[in-house]
Amino acid sequence: MIRDARLMPMKAIGRFIRYSRLLVLAAAAALCGAGADAEVSIPTFTGETLPDTDGRHINAHGGNILLVGDTFYWYGEYRGDGTPGSYQQGVACYSSPDLRDWTFRGLALEASADTASLIRRGCIMERPKVVYCPATGRYVMWFHHELKGRGYGAAMAGVAVSDTPEGPFEYRASSRVNAGIAPLNMPSENLLKAYSDTLEWWTPDWYAAVADGMFAARDLAGGQMARDMTVFVDPATGQAYHIYSSEENLTLHIAELDSTFERHTGRYIRIFPGGHNEAPAIFRHGGKYWMITSGCTGWDPNEARLMCADSVMGRWTQLPNPCRGPMAGTTFGGQGTYVFTLGDQYVFMADRWNPKMLSDSRHLWLPVRFDENDTPFIPWPEDRN
Ligand code: DGJ
Repeated sequence: MIRDARLMPMKAIGRFIRYSRLLVLAAAAALCGAGADAEVSIPTFTGETLPDTDGRHINAHGGNILLVGDTFYWYGEYRGDGTPGSYQQGVACYSSPDLRDWTFRGLALEASADTASLIRRGCIMERPKVVYCPATGRYVMWFHHELKGRGYGAAMAGVAVSDTPEGPFEYRASSRVNAGIAPLNMPSENLLKAYSDTLEWWTPDWYAAVADGMFAARDLAGGQMARDMTVFVDPATGQAYHIYSSEENLTLHIAELDSTFERHTGRYIRIFPGGHNEAPAIFRHGGKYWMITSGCTGWDPNEARLMCADSVMGRWTQLPNPCRGPMAGTTFGGQGTYVFTLGDQYVFMADRWNPKMLSDSRHLWLPVRFDENDTPFIPWPEDRN
């Protein structure tokens, strides 16, 4: 029974808070379709054209899947057709009852015709992720945002919200992350160090300075750079995290979001400084947190990396390439975007980018398996070429 917290002793208040949190998690699980896992098996896609219910290849890249009730939503970059002048039009939303038949629901967030808007047509909106926030009842979209005409220089995180999963999402803001706040795991003396700006890139001294936090210190006042990204809601606690490539793509940051999922709390850590990780995709399995990333080679594929930690804000260790089979050295020609979990099924979602026509980039959905030590790996399906 939920009682008035003002009348309870401290111990009971602790129990009340834990109990309420579990209730919120249970309600969120129900809303987000905890029951659908029994009936639906996740399909495997290996780079074939994937038509939607109108026969058009699914144009949702670098995105994620969200289950709401018994409907699956697929969000991703809605890319231009590759002709000169074609621009990214926004973030697409598709829906499906079974993860197989996908219906285009339009643009959940559309690039704006207003030339004063930060998301004006011609800007870049990459790697969008949508999550449901139980505290507000809203759907929250985060994305990597680059300003029109500025290449990849702005390196900002954008956020938009909606009362419904299909949107349209209302664009709220874009910025670098956690301005004026130091990472939790960076020694404070490093913030004050005078790093030489004559250090030559890629030399051992430069790598040592990167590991120390040279770029995090440089960006302290204006906020940390945020490019490739994901959002993770920890199924064990309900806490949301924003994970992004920062510090010139050299170092990953994991930043807590507040209970609205729309803002950062200011608590964040740096992991794998100088490791050059992009495309973070994270999931929980066996009481541990697993992250699959790529290296940084533009649109070209490279070898995936696997990382593991006992807690999201804890100490991460790197493990060997999780991919197995032909083309395992290039993530099967793709770059990860998300690990979707449904009951005890896990699927690694990746894009085989086609930079000449990004809208025709192909989708890889590959089941994640677990070895005798319960470590994840991704085999290429034996029955596919
Ligand atoms: C690799 C990133 O993972 C993609 O999202 C995109 O930003 C490309 N780089 C651009 O070259």
